Amino acid sequence: MLWSKSLIPTLKEAPQDAEAVSHKLMLRSGLIRQLSSGVYCYLPLGWRVLRKAEEIIRQEMDACGAQQVLLSALQPAALWKESGRFEEIGRVMISFRDRRDKQMVLGPTHEEVITTIARAYFKSYKQLPQTLYQIQTKFRDEPRPRFGVLRSCEFIMKDAYSFDKDAEGLNKSYQDMYKAYHKIFRRCGLDFLAVEADPGIMGGDVSHEFMVPARGGEDAVAYCPSCSWASSNVSENIKKSKKCPKCSGKLDFKAAIEIGHIFKLGTKYSDALKARFLDENGKEQPIIMGCYGIGVNRILASAIEQRHDKDGIIWPEEISPYRAVILPLNIQDQASRAAALEVYNELEKRNIDVLLDDRDERAGIKLKDADLIGIPLQVIVGEKNIKQGKIEIKKRSTDERTLVESEKAISKLMSELKLTLDKAQDL
Ligand SMILES: Nc1ncnc2c1ncn2[C@@H]1O[C@H](COP(=O)(O)OP(=O)(O)O)[C@@H](O)[C@H]1O
Ligand SMILES: [Mg+2]
Ligand SMILES: [Zn+2]
Repeated sequence: MLWSKSLIPTLKEAPQDAEAVSHKLMLRSGLIRQLSSGVYCYLPLGWRVLRKAEEIIRQEMDACGAQQVLLSALQPAALWKESGRFEEIGRVMISFRDRRDKQMVLGPTHEEVITTIARAYFKSYKQLPQTLYQIQTKFRDEPRPRFGVLRSCEFIMKDAYSFDKDAEGLNKSYQDMYKAYHKIFRRCGLDFLAVEADPGIMGGDVSHEFMVPARGGEDAVAYCPSCSWASSNVSENIKKSKKCPKCSGKLDFKAAIEIGHIFKLGTKYSDALKARFLDENGKEQPIIMGCYGIGVNRILASAIEQRHDKDGIIWPEEISPYRAVILPLNIQDQASRAAALEVYNELEKRNIDVLLDDRDERAGIKLKDADLIGIPLQVIVGEKNIKQGKIEIKKRSTDERTLVESEKAISKLMSELKLTLDKAQDL
């Protein structure tokens, strides 16, 4: 992609009201634009990152046997009354009357809808287990939307639901998801903790949250450095004593972002909505369910919270909007332009997504913008270097710079890219 033809509206300063680092950098690097309080549009760079995160999620969900569906965002309020959650969720749910005067809601989550599907189709133990998932927009009229996309009123969630015939089956489905979540967040380049959590209004008896320790986080986790026990749900006593309930070591408390949440629901929804199957003995039983969420937008913000410096974002390779950016520092210089184009074409030919900064801008602006948008590899084509047949390759994360002969630039870049691809495969 050519920068001159792209919508990348970088900003020198972040707007005053942005508090979290990730919010500031998402605005400054032109990933998102705020439409109203808690409502954001994704611009091309932001959309590319979102799509890459979604693709990782899709691959890992498919790999553990889950099937993708797309459920409706519009839902009849009657369904929520049937499950008993209409009152419980309260004003967070956006509801309205349609032209036939039927009360409808915009889905804040989809346990009810998916249970109607299970009720319709999963009639026999022979059809179980199955897991369905979707990647879809949720609506929640949050009392305090803040920190940009971290707590917004419209956001993308990956939500999965497992259906089993017994508790043992649920354990296995839950374990599979637990493992898949580890792979997903590792591939997204996040440092995270899986902690015991409170099931809250989802119900059920077991739940884990995936927490990304970060200053901009709204939640807190207690963590024991000696035995690795961690929880987002500790009693007042533990908070006061700071004593690990497992090994009595001293607990650390860290601010964190909840990026994922998995629950063993049991029969809460299948009982309420009468989703039943016939077991081996021909007896009717409620389907045993689990549900598993990931905040896709929060992956972006979490990655930025954990990986940035004073100059901008440092994207993890697998979710970076582009793998490399090429910077001919003086686009008017014939030799620089030709060399930059050559590298660009060669990378494109190899299916590497690459951005070429072909703007007629000062070198300082180009270098600053490249650091700000945080693409992991920079190919810097300077006038002086190119006269000696040399190109500079800079790693955004370490600032490590290598001067290579321009004929060797492609093989050097490909080996850097291959290293990161191999690393991803090892996870
Ligand atoms: N308002 C929001 N904005 C962005 N992401 C959200 C929001 N609410 C929830 N999420 C994401 O969706 C995931 C699943 O949601 P859930 O656990 O049901 O929400 P909550 O923790 O608010 O009850 C969360 O782990 C989080 O990553
Ligand atoms: Mg949650
Ligand atoms: Zn401990």
